[in-house]
Amino acid sequence: ARKIIIDTDPGQDDAVAILLALASPEDVDVLGITAVAGNVPLDLTAKNARIVCELAGQPDMPVFAGCDRPLGRDLVTAEHVHGKTGLDGPDLPDPTMPLQDQHAVDFIIDTLRSHDPGTVTLCPLGPLTNIATAFQNAPDIVDRVQEIVLMGGAYFEVGNITPTAEFNIYVDPEAADIVFKSGVPLVVMPLDVTHKALVTKPRNDAFRALGTRAGTAVAEMTDFFERFDKEKYGSAGAPLHDPCVTAYLIRPDLFSGRHVNVAIETTSELTMGMTVADWWGVTDRPANALFIGDLDADGFFDLLTERLARL
Ligand code: BDR
Ligand code: CA
Repeated sequence: ARKIIIDTDPGQDDAVAILLALASPEDVDVLGITAVAGNVPLDLTAKNARIVCELAGQPDMPVFAGCDRPLGRDLVTAEHVHGKTGLDGPDLPDPTMPLQDQHAVDFIIDTLRSHDPGTVTLCPLGPLTNIATAFQNAPDIVDRVQEIVLMGGAYFEVGNITPTAEFNIYVDPEAADIVFKSGVPLVVMPLDVTHKALVTKPRNDAFRALGTRAGTAVAEMTDFFERFDKEKYGSAGAPLHDPCVTAYLIRPDLFSGRHVNVAIETTSELTMGMTVADWWGVTDRPANALFIGDLDADGFFDLLTERLARL
């Protein structure tokens, strides 16, 4: 199984991504979960991450709190999408498992130093603040990262928080810039692909039909989470952005994309946080990312439902 750290700001779709990973021990070995401020403030994302671990029946999973604000900006949150708690929808109990004392950034650094180089993959599902801070504080770890598989950005689908920017990148563009320039192999799940991973009614029914706490909770989360995209985009259901990351680790064959150069806009107020992807190869900037554009949505939902049934 591939060793991973999930860096996250739950978030209903983060929660589903975590559940998929925790249900798939033969494919992914989750070394720890690091929370970052994003969809909601840090105290809530650190709490929600633990709610999700308990929902998965894994109260021993180490969960760490990380950065409570972007590198150089005020935090922008997304309660308009995720609700006041960040995990609105199901009625889940407060967690009883502990939050680890260690700072998430130190956990990331220590883990990369204590494992063989090239054996730990980072999976960011929120703003890239924790990852960029770890790279800044401990440049020696950058070369030790096997790969970063992240949810963020958009190209043809442009933006969801501004006309040109996707939320995770927009919240901390300086952090994203550090990560995209780091030289670590990147796999990027932009809105272009995540807007194809839609929880339609039959797919939501399939979660509910599992008849488990996790299945019901996922159905209730996606019920809540779909309001925003249905109203804004006339979408057929909730887009499961972040689960694209964990599904890719299990079944990369479900996804397709191109190796391209992706640069982050950090100066223009108008297009701040835009992921400028050279999809057509019109510059000589070297490729730094596998930018995913498509997925087998039925295969993705079959995998998700089958794995959730285990919890
Ligand atoms: C991303 O932003 C958050 O609201 C979601 O959890 C996802 O990570 C989508 O733009
Ligand atoms: Ca997220």
